[in-house]
Amino acid sequence: MRVYKVKNYDEMSRKAANLIAAQIITKPDSVLGLATGSTPVGTYKYLVEKYNNGDLDFSEVKTANLDEYKGLTRESEQSYYYFMYNNLFKDINIDLNNTNIPDGTEPDSEKECARYEAVVESMGGVDIQVLGLGHIGFNEPADEFPKTTHCVDLTESTIEANKRFFADVNDVPRQAYTMGIKTIMSAKTILLLVSGADKAQILHDCLCGPIVPQVPASILQLHGDVIVIADEAAMSKF
Ligand code: GLP
Repeated sequence: MRVYKVKNYDEMSRKAANLIAAQIITKPDSVLGLATGSTPVGTYKYLVEKYNNGDLDFSEVKTANLDEYKGLTRESEQSYYYFMYNNLFKDINIDLNNTNIPDGTEPDSEKECARYEAVVESMGGVDIQVLGLGHIGFNEPADEFPKTTHCVDLTESTIEANKRFFADVNDVPRQAYTMGIKTIMSAKTILLLVSGADKAQILHDCLCGPIVPQVPASILQLHGDVIVIADEAAMSKF
């Protein structure tokens, strides 16, 4: 595990974009595992900037996102498809046919999870997986580490944390599709991005605490190639 301590959110974002850029330059048909949330927004901005400067070509890049709310359409402003399209895909030369996100409109969970798992496998797995914290994907604290893509009942605390993106707490979907721990751990490299004092405890638990399914991200201690980029506020408990 390599841990880079950086000054702030902007430095974290720039460094993350540089590492992803290096991956794409080294392997133009890389499979990028992408995340949503406020953490990777700055990273995506820097990737767009590099594309606009002529330094990056996404024409052969493929992507697989971690998760999607069950029940939301791509047009819904709170869907992760909408997020990815507006924060990254629309501004780079990626072929949208090469982008993959679980289909929130598929009501049959078993069918959608099996389909998505097969999609990730068919691409040969993820080369570099971007992750935020506390959740990795939508994996909730559980009694065992869920393996593959599955449908999750979101906990009250997740609904509370994510309600800021919705007009009303009752609009937050109660379920989501997410890659499982095995899917995430199969990525060749993991890029964990952490910013802000409110992430200090979970970052410490994740890197230094016991490896338990109640802290799903603690499993990352067992991955052979994890790069953590965390800012000073997030590192305050070390
Ligand atoms: C959601 C996403 C996670 C993400 C988390 C943190 O729960 N499903 O993948 O890591 O939010 O979000 P933020 O980066 O806004 O703190």
